[in-house]
Amino acid sequence: MTSDQGECFVYITLPGEVKPVTAGRYVLTVNRRGEPIGRFVYGRSYLARDDKVEIDPIELRLSERTYETVRLKGIFGALRDAGPDYWGRRVIEKHVGKAQLSELDYLLHSADDRAGALGFGLSQTPPAPVRKFNKTIELEKLQRIADAIVADEQLPGDDANVQIEELLLVGTSMGGARPKAVVEDADGLWLAKFNRDDDRWNSARVEHSMLMLGRACGLDVAFSKIVEAGGRDILLVKRFDRTKAAGGYSRARMISALTLLGTEDSHRGRDRWSYVLLAEELRRISADPKTDAHELFRRMAFNALISNTDDHPRNHAMLARGSDWRLSPAYDLTPTTPISIERRDLAMTVGDDGRRATADNLLSQSLRFLLDRDDAKAILNDMETRVKESWYHTARAQGVSEKDCELISGAFAYPGFHLQPQPA
Ligand SMILES: Nc1ncnc2c1ncn2[C@@H]1O[C@H](COP(=O)(O)OP(=O)(O)OP(=O)(O)O)[C@@H](O)[C@H]1O
Ligand SMILES: [Mg+2]
Repeated sequence: MTSDQGECFVYITLPGEVKPVTAGRYVLTVNRRGEPIGRFVYGRSYLARDDKVEIDPIELRLSERTYETVRLKGIFGALRDAGPDYWGRRVIEKHVGKAQLSELDYLLHSADDRAGALGFGLSQTPPAPVRKFNKTIELEKLQRIADAIVADEQLPGDDANVQIEELLLVGTSMGGARPKAVVEDADGLWLAKFNRDDDRWNSARVEHSMLMLGRACGLDVAFSKIVEAGGRDILLVKRFDRTKAAGGYSRARMISALTLLGTEDSHRGRDRWSYVLLAEELRRISADPKTDAHELFRRMAFNALISNTDDHPRNHAMLARGSDWRLSPAYDLTPTTPISIERRDLAMTVGDDGRRATADNLLSQSLRFLLDRDDAKAILNDMETRVKESWYHTARAQGVSEKDCELISGAFAYPGFHLQPQPA
């Protein structure tokens, strides 16, 4: 067997519970053509439970069959979502001392604080959930370790490996590229996002103010706050997939829009990166298709209005706190300042004119978001006014400096977005 092959058990924390149970078994192997192939089968005792829930409402529905996939190097989308991404992989590689590991190794090495309700292990019975999280009080130390990893430096102090272990316990399995960790306080679990020395502006404060601005524009947004540690600003985003409960945390299932769209991060999957397709897919599984489709339309509009051109499908997710799936709160809203003031493209297709972030393009497929053209137009007008009128005050009120405001000012309601005048 090569290191790209292997197997593990997949655990799940059922709605309302704080301890995982074994949901099934995953095997990664190669087919006759030498391609990686993944197989997943739900356990019989899991299928016999009254409270069972599916891991993925599209690709891994509850059934006795053996599921197979050759996509994504044999990793099912829902399992990929529960694994580490750029940042977590970097930390794990540093810890293991190897440049590249197999997909299965990354899953098995990452900590159990991953987004969603899944866990992975080699034992048929799941281990007890991790109860110890880093506290917000330790943020200064975590920031230092993150800095060292970003700079690819030796970790500070003699107990470097111990520190890596500690960092590994928190945050590696959360996706994304920015340095981050998971921390706990009396209110629950937070995703801590650290500034990098090479950031163009104070990312923590800017992202926090975009989350506030999104809320002011009517979006359902993850709760966030800024804390200072060691003279640095850190963004804390409240985990919406964990709820404090007696004896631990209950967990919501989570799948990314990549999984919903049946696609991947790389350019190969890009033809399916589309808000329009996403609206259709989420309408199939959402317990409230209309509300979620409208919300997705607003998020797409907001991203266009703040030039969030990093709105790739991993930055959208579906969440199931109980048995029902719904669009998750919005997260990772960051402005960019492309050079062109006339033309902006989002990361996903918006309408008939592809990824172009213009009002006309946003309106072109509004029916797929269950909005008639007039209602969609009213939403765009309203959001455009709000963004124009309040981005600056919102940012300043959240401590974004005058200089940073100047740097990001070109992101908002850019000239090329404007609505075509309505015929009388
Ligand atoms: N509040 C939250 N609760 C639960 N999970 C979250 C929350 N915010 C983000 N996540 C998960 O963590 C991942 C990383 O978060 P986020 O996208 O904010 O980080 P990032 O490093 O800035 O990402 P990117 O690489 O897209 O810039 C997300 O893709 C999502 O799966
Ligand atoms: Mg992200």
